[in-house]
Amino acid sequence: MNPTDTLTTRTALDRAWWKEAVVYQIYPKSFNDATGDGIGDLRGIERRVDYLDDLGVDAVWLCPVYESPQADNGYDISDYRSIHDAYGDMDDWRRLLDALHERDIRLIMDLVVNHTSDEHEWFQRSRRRDGTFEDYYIWRDGDGGDPPNNWESMFGGSAWTYDEVRGQWFLHLFDEKQPDLNWRNPDVRNSVYEMIEWWLSQGIDGFRMDVINLISKAAGLPDGAEGEGLTGAEHFINGPNVHKYLREMHDEVLSDESLLTVGETPGVCVDDARQYVGPDGDGLSMVFQFEHVTFDFDEHKWDAGDWSLVELKEIISEWQDGLADDGWNSIYLNNHDQPRMVSRFGDDGVYREASAKLLGTLTHTLHGTPFVYQGEELGMTNASFASPDELRDVEAVNFVEEALEQSDVESYDDVRDAIEYIGRDNARTPMQWSDAPHAGFTDGEPWLDCNTNYEAVNVEHARATKDSVWHYYRDLIDLRHEHDVLVYGSFDLLLPEDPAIFAYTRTLGDERGLVVLNFEAGPVEFTVPDGVSLDGLELAIANTDVPKRPRPSFELGPYEARVYLTS
Ligand code: NOJ
Repeated sequence: MNPTDTLTTRTALDRAWWKEAVVYQIYPKSFNDATGDGIGDLRGIERRVDYLDDLGVDAVWLCPVYESPQADNGYDISDYRSIHDAYGDMDDWRRLLDALHERDIRLIMDLVVNHTSDEHEWFQRSRRRDGTFEDYYIWRDGDGGDPPNNWESMFGGSAWTYDEVRGQWFLHLFDEKQPDLNWRNPDVRNSVYEMIEWWLSQGIDGFRMDVINLISKAAGLPDGAEGEGLTGAEHFINGPNVHKYLREMHDEVLSDESLLTVGETPGVCVDDARQYVGPDGDGLSMVFQFEHVTFDFDEHKWDAGDWSLVELKEIISEWQDGLADDGWNSIYLNNHDQPRMVSRFGDDGVYREASAKLLGTLTHTLHGTPFVYQGEELGMTNASFASPDELRDVEAVNFVEEALEQSDVESYDDVRDAIEYIGRDNARTPMQWSDAPHAGFTDGEPWLDCNTNYEAVNVEHARATKDSVWHYYRDLIDLRHEHDVLVYGSFDLLLPEDPAIFAYTRTLGDERGLVVLNFEAGPVEFTVPDGVSLDGLELAIANTDVPKRPRPSFELGPYEARVYLTS
């Protein structure tokens, strides 16, 4: 390619800050406790803003900090415009925003509008049929003593609860303390848009939109087909009016192109995703898809188990190719709802550090915006939960309770493996800052016990150790900032059938990259496939000492990761 072509490619880039950014996700309850009550808080986060700056991230996604009874750790909001007491107040929040902005770090807030808390004033008034609030939620008469339909809640049991006050059933796709809003009602939509505008006027930079593809339910709320998966899902995943509502939301309040909007969208395939993020879509910047974090499920998430690299590569490359030209990918391997990635896709034993670096190499060199979940930059691992009393997550607690009612489950020990493989508390153990008691997270008793490995795996130690996962992440983040090819370059999967190696190229005009990752705990031989040129390629980053120039064939050690770029 000649220089003019390169120039054309570069100027044609549809640049956006959020495409070039690395986003850091904070789960406030577990990040840093400044008040000593065992619960993370906004002042605690503010104290760590320099930490985020040192790591080099460009934006923070803050999980919900709004007023909430905390049935689902803040995803049950009782007042959208105030801060949960244990987290602080709006002044603390403003100080945090300013501290982030002073360091050029943007702030993305969580937008939870599929449902509210049952303690939200809207619900309280709705259950009393109070004026315009009467139809703010999805109320129905039951069928005798039975709920209106057979839909199941994501957290187990029926998706309906009978409300004595109103004398009707209300729908809740999650916990019974999370009633679903009635998006068919224009007053609901307007109330939500006003709230969005209010937050935007506070100076935030975007939203992560909780289960946004569930807001529209099929007319008549028909029974779902019983069998595999969640009963009723076909009637509320990507429901009939979801695009109408999202476009309306976009036109009313989200049309500012500098905002990052990432929709959490369980159950979407690439074609669905285009309708949310594509050029003729709803105007979202990107979505969080779930295919690569559900492909190891059997009948449901608690049966998760075996996975193969070939299948993981297939899913990832389908998304890479599918949104290459029209849309944008989010890239994540874990978050507050998923187990720790090093425990799931790497090796949290002897190869913990190597495999954490390998997985980080993957997420920072794919086409899309990488999201780093707190503690991932240390290689934090899944925890151990010896008894159900140690669990805090409503989903896990419900699952254990329901399982124990079944005849083939004798005790917690029968389901412990499932909890420790896929349960959400794995990701929510406190951030490990140091080897001080409770990992330096709190001076009090943490709301959820720390992972016992905090004496070895913690920020203080990682920062003092030159070749730690933390330093490697900092280098990865820098690398992505320095090389357009890693942000905008096209992706081409190599060796799709190789069971151990995940390799691909990135190309942007005459800038090229070659990424080679060994997902095995043993050595493997890599031969550069025909058609891939090694000309001008030099090592940009690797998780072990390797020569600067690639050879046509080389051996990779356990969990070895290499990135070669044209200089
Ligand atoms: C997705 C959130 O990430 C999860 O934590 C929450 O439980 C559900 N949505 C319900 O809001």
